[in-house]
Amino acid sequence: MKPRKIKDNIYWMGSVDWSRRLFDSLIPLPDGTSYNAYLIEGIDKIALIDTVDPSMVDELLNQLEGISKLDYVVSLHSEQDHSGSIPHILSRYPNAKLVSTPKAKEILINLLHISEEYFITVNDGDSISLGDKTLKFIHTPWVHWPETMVAYLEEDKILFSCDLFGSHIATTDLYASDERRVYEAAKRYYAEIMMPFRNVIKKNLEKLAPYDIAIIAPSHGPIHPRPAFIVNAHLEWIDGPPKNLVVLPYVSMHNSTKLMVDFLVSSLVEKGIDVELFDLTVTDIGKLAMALVDAGTIIIGTPTVLAGPHPNAVYAAFLANALRPKARFLSIIGSYGWGGRTVEILAGMVPNLKVEIIEPVLTIGAPGEADFEALENLAETVAAKHKEHGFK
Ligand code: FEO
Repeated sequence: MKPRKIKDNIYWMGSVDWSRRLFDSLIPLPDGTSYNAYLIEGIDKIALIDTVDPSMVDELLNQLEGISKLDYVVSLHSEQDHSGSIPHILSRYPNAKLVSTPKAKEILINLLHISEEYFITVNDGDSISLGDKTLKFIHTPWVHWPETMVAYLEEDKILFSCDLFGSHIATTDLYASDERRVYEAAKRYYAEIMMPFRNVIKKNLEKLAPYDIAIIAPSHGPIHPRPAFIVNAHLEWIDGPPKNLVVLPYVSMHNSTKLMVDFLVSSLVEKGIDVELFDLTVTDIGKLAMALVDAGTIIIGTPTVLAGPHPNAVYAAFLANALRPKARFLSIIGSYGWGGRTVEILAGMVPNLKVEIIEPVLTIGAPGEADFEALENLAETVAAKHKEHGFK
């Protein structure tokens, strides 16, 4: 794609990656993604903000045809989907200076072996002038690595936010005109990479609040011409109370756990609780992560295999622990044949979650009357806890 004009002398560049289906060899990308770079032509100096994944570098180099000089290459974030093409850009523009935070300088040298002489490091609040345009740099650690910063173009009121406020969507729509679609993609993106850092992100949002921002230009997905839409969505995901929702990832081997899950779901629904159920043998992990953004309670369903939880349940517990959702309660249900340490192992895998453990329900073999009664009690306890905490 050719460069696309955002405002006079400000252009979107980069690549729409329609084919990518996995990020970090972990995160599903059902709708592809984009790697957005931005060119700002000041009256004196020209700056490129971020680059693209190295697999797409030729497209960026083609977009820069006709740009005879670059004074600055700004690296907002060192992850290779934005920084990986910097060596190619510096090779074409050897007089350009690479602008980064001090921490990013270390990381970029380690990851990409860029010569130290290229760097200009900027502290929090520093600016560089392009003549008639001024880029102010605001350090925003942990969106998404510790070295990240955003850049505010003062005269045009554009915030270049890199991973923050991004979404994984491949689209020709330069702007987030279909907010409903972007909301879903941005929530998935937030859940997968931002949720673990939500307390730090909250501080970063507070830091950005005084700025008069007309446009947010992230480095993944569409540009936001209505910043309030995406900022408010983040505030809700970060700080809104958990919902009256149970997220129930489960796996069943011989149907006993499945019988328990079905009974429990029915009982929870009867009590007015929403449930999102995930069969871990077929689950899109991104969907599970999204559900965890809102969950009031997490219940993991697993059989006992090799004396412990099923490996798929272990994966779900590990993921929940890593993503640190704001759920307040957790329980475990499942069946076993003759013994094992399923509850002990799973409960020990979620130290990051600030949850109260509700008495698990484990049955020997197929569930019987007493087990269904215990599941009914579990549903009642969850309903009472949700009501007590005002989850809606
Ligand atoms: Fe889009 Fe953290 O990289």
